[in-house]
Amino acid sequence: MRLIVLGAGAGGGLPQWNCACLQCAAARKGRIPGMTQSSLAVSADGLAWVLLNASPDLRQQLFATPALHPTGLRDSPVKAVVLTNGDVDHIAGLLTLREKSPFRLFATRATLDVLAANSVFAVLDPELVRPEVITLDQPFEPLPGLVMTPHAVPGKVPLYLEGAETALNLKAMGEQTIGITIEKAGHRVEYIPGCADVPDWLIARLARSDVLLFDGTIWTDEEMLASGTGRKTGARMGHIAMSGPNGSMERLASLRARKLFIHINNTNPALLPDSPARQALLRNGWELAQDGLEITL
Ligand code: MLT
Ligand code: MN
Ligand code: ZN
Repeated sequence: MRLIVLGAGAGGGLPQWNCACLQCAAARKGRIPGMTQSSLAVSADGLAWVLLNASPDLRQQLFATPALHPTGLRDSPVKAVVLTNGDVDHIAGLLTLREKSPFRLFATRATLDVLAANSVFAVLDPELVRPEVITLDQPFEPLPGLVMTPHAVPGKVPLYLEGAETALNLKAMGEQTIGITIEKAGHRVEYIPGCADVPDWLIARLARSDVLLFDGTIWTDEEMLASGTGRKTGARMGHIAMSGPNGSMERLASLRARKLFIHINNTNPALLPDSPARQALLRNGWELAQDGLEITL
């Protein structure tokens, strides 16, 4: 199995168009690598590929990734797309894939309903891109030899569907926010780009993973307020912090998997190589994913 991180960043990317925080400024100056938005490519044979999430930066990501370049006049190695939620950073790239090439599109009924309710996605020719419903805890095979199992993780509905704040369940369990277990020939990878909480059952579920790619949006719950970049806490955005008691590093400390953070927000101080956050992250046995990172199992 081959994995390529197409985009290690969270929504907005690094640098984000309207932000001059420390990390965005460092990326603009070329002192740290930039990051495009959240997506992972997976292949069983190195020829056919499935995209896990389709980011607004997909066009740039495809350009930067030779394995995903066309193999014929109008023939792409991208054969399938799987969505983990309906967030803009995970679906907007579908619009880039509109040029009359067939691919399979897998998502839960809840996420497919979001697409169906937004008529702009009708630009994907329904003869060529037929949505396929995936069901929680039911394995499916987006490519021959590659088995994926979607499962619920705590999360909220997409930002643009939040509605009244009082009715919002920030740690809802259901079809709106999922993780994907990816298996091939006894190897097991877990992809969870958005997660609001790490309950005991999730730790148990991840115990057999060889590689874990986990929500690294924020270092501390209040980092947006502290840095003056925004008013929302991580919890309010549906993302658990990496650090602190009950942060993801502490909760997932027992796992034997190779552990990488992905979906990293530009406000996250761990992006700076000399920061105490980065040092603590490395000490705890974690890595930061980056655009173009390849993992072969
Ligand atoms: C998130 O991960 O919280 C969302 O992608 C935020 C957004 O919609 O920009
Ligand atoms: Mn996001
Ligand atoms: Zn920033």
